[in-house]
Amino acid sequence: MDDIKEITERLDMDRLPVHVAIIMDGNGRWARKRAMLRTEGHAEGVNSVNRITRLASDLGIRFLTLYAFSTENWKRPREEVDALMHLIGWTIRKETPDLVKNNVRIHLLGEIDRLPESVRKDLEEGRRATSGCTGLNLNICLSYSSRWELTNAARKIASLVEKGEFKPEDITEDTVASMLSTKGIPDPDLLIRTGGEHRISNFLLWQCAYSEFYFTPVLWPDFDNKAFAEALADYQNRERRFGMTSDQVAEKTSESTE
Ligand code: FPP
Repeated sequence: MDDIKEITERLDMDRLPVHVAIIMDGNGRWARKRAMLRTEGHAEGVNSVNRITRLASDLGIRFLTLYAFSTENWKRPREEVDALMHLIGWTIRKETPDLVKNNVRIHLLGEIDRLPESVRKDLEEGRRATSGCTGLNLNICLSYSSRWELTNAARKIASLVEKGEFKPEDITEDTVASMLSTKGIPDPDLLIRTGGEHRISNFLLWQCAYSEFYFTPVLWPDFDNKAFAEALADYQNRERRFGMTSDQVAEKTSESTE
């Protein structure tokens, strides 16, 4: 990659986020600006998915979570949903050899059972083929929403309590986290939303409790390596306090580097 050197020189490579989550917004507007079909915007969005996955992997980021299709997206016109499903299956089929080559492991988050069978097959094949990869973990959220996930977790916990396997007073934050589709994945350090909206649209509500948010007007198909590097640089300028004071954070940082 041409600009990787330039990017790594600009960033503090010891302070990269471990987990970056992205709400990929603006495909439709990108297409409309060019008098193209919305589905053509989604197809262009796939190029950004490939580009950003590659850069995240090259930088050594451990987790990249992409909001590819929300529970609410099922309400879109039938033709758009069909086209998106087809595009997602096709992309996974086409990109799996490269993902394996780059040591990227696919994980699927969401109500995968709701997807068409052919897409499920492509996804399952991609997941299986990359299951031995140890580099970047690429979490693809499909038919995902945070409220769905939290409701599901509540049901699972209630059922364990009903069976007598758990006492209500034993339920901790870790219990809840272990019932989510992100079980075992550290919370996102950085949440990026492209496309200019300032909301999180039912995405990782539990997991983003302490994430840094980065909103950019750049439409997803235009989100290039430079734009991603800018988000990472912005993140590195933030002070993450996790409820503590600045002085406490400074003290903790100096202790950990001693
Ligand atoms: C939001 O833009 C984008 C989506 C709903 C779909 C994003 C999906 C992809 C880019 C394909 C991902 C594929 C894989 C394999 C991960 P929008 O349509 O809401 O844009 P608008 O707000 O401008 O209308």
